[in-house]
Amino acid sequence: MSKDPANKMWGGRFTASPAEIMEEINASIGFDKRLATQDIRGSKAHAEMLAAAGIITKEDSKRIIAGLEQILGEVDSGKMAWSRALEDVHMNVESRLKDVIGAPAGRLHTARSRNDQVATDFRLWVRDRLDELDAALARLQLALARKAETHAGTVMPGFTHLQPAQPVTFGHHLMAYVEMLARDRGRMGDARKRLNECPLGAAALAGTSFPIDRHATAKALDFDGPTANSLDSVSDRDFALETLAAASIAAMHLSRLAEEIVIWVTPQFGFIKLSDRFTTGSSIMPQKRNPDAAELSRAKVGRIAGAFQSLLMVMKGLPLAYSKDMQEDKEVTFDALDSFGLALAAMTGMVEDMEAQPETMRAAAGRGYSTATDIADWLVRELKLPFRDAHHLTGRVVALAEGRGIELEGLTLADLKTIDPRFRADALDVLSVENSVASRKSHGGTAPQNVRKMARGWIRKLEKAAGAG
Ligand code: ARG
Repeated sequence: MSKDPANKMWGGRFTASPAEIMEEINASIGFDKRLATQDIRGSKAHAEMLAAAGIITKEDSKRIIAGLEQILGEVDSGKMAWSRALEDVHMNVESRLKDVIGAPAGRLHTARSRNDQVATDFRLWVRDRLDELDAALARLQLALARKAETHAGTVMPGFTHLQPAQPVTFGHHLMAYVEMLARDRGRMGDARKRLNECPLGAAALAGTSFPIDRHATAKALDFDGPTANSLDSVSDRDFALETLAAASIAAMHLSRLAEEIVIWVTPQFGFIKLSDRFTTGSSIMPQKRNPDAAELSRAKVGRIAGAFQSLLMVMKGLPLAYSKDMQEDKEVTFDALDSFGLALAAMTGMVEDMEAQPETMRAAAGRGYSTATDIADWLVRELKLPFRDAHHLTGRVVALAEGRGIELEGLTLADLKTIDPRFRADALDVLSVENSVASRKSHGGTAPQNVRKMARGWIRKLEKAAGAG
């Protein structure tokens, strides 16, 4: 706790140090030290630009950059001593720079403010996470597509209302998630594109009187260019909101897959087995194998969507430009994106390891009169009945099977003829779940040949991207 008379970075007009509780509510170093790498990267670019523009000497710039590199080493090796009295990562790094190189350190903060500094650091941090999360999403897609290729022809029940609806293939079901994740990656990619403008040089809010080169710093930090309005630059966090919104939607998708895994792995369903690596036992019930990783991944969406809400409420109604409220942007974003990354990694491992149980799935697929629509379609196709009439007749076929306590596959031609004499032997073929899925060749349908083609296409694309990256 600081007993300094006043903060040494900004305390010129202060005579007393902040109240203990003020320091506690004000300091962000406890969490924003995670921005140290980005902060140092931004400062190096700034120092280089200041020298190139003749605002500081080349000599000072060199010493500043060497000092910052030493500090980066200290941060990476855990040797950097962070001080709460110095509030945040920006002032901690600058103060340490003064210890390391002396007076020239004081020139680094020329033509910038912590307001454009933090906006830049946080953008860089979110951008780094977006790139990592994109790769993590691609890895999950690849795991799903590979499993889908293996099970392109494995029949399982398809559900609506969680009631058996029509047979599908397990591969088709998994590929549905590959498509969702592709859109998630698209949303994150869009967020990245809009994020990629550099606020550095907007200074406190109004820009600066120094002849800085904002294009140079933007380029050095791999931004597409500088932001256009200095007030906007320091006062918006929409890039974080957009990222959290995209992450919330993606985490929602993940939670659905997680939930399905939880359902599939129950003894009642028994559609899949999970590996020891992604399950836990019970301390009291020796027979248990619990899908905790799926449950926790399912739960993470709460924190992620909560972070989005939280930051949205922080930003709502804030007047331009910077307000300290905005310091609240970081913890929730850190936590949300960490949680999302963890859930993605756990889900990927689970999917890679999970073993489908084709026989159980096949048996379940035949239950619940799941090929009833195929009979109705046969009546329309072969006897040219209007679909509504076909639907009605098929209802009677289902009632017949139900009355006898058998599945549709158990019916004979004679049985069908009692409902309508126009039924022919080929109507029996459509009752099998294999024929049912094989017939659904429409674009995007569940036919194994479709699924195989889609899975292979994605695998090729994802492997190529992974190899290139
Ligand atoms: N720690 C602050 C934050 O995270 C840095 C910016 C402080 N700016 C200021 N004018 N006090 O927002």
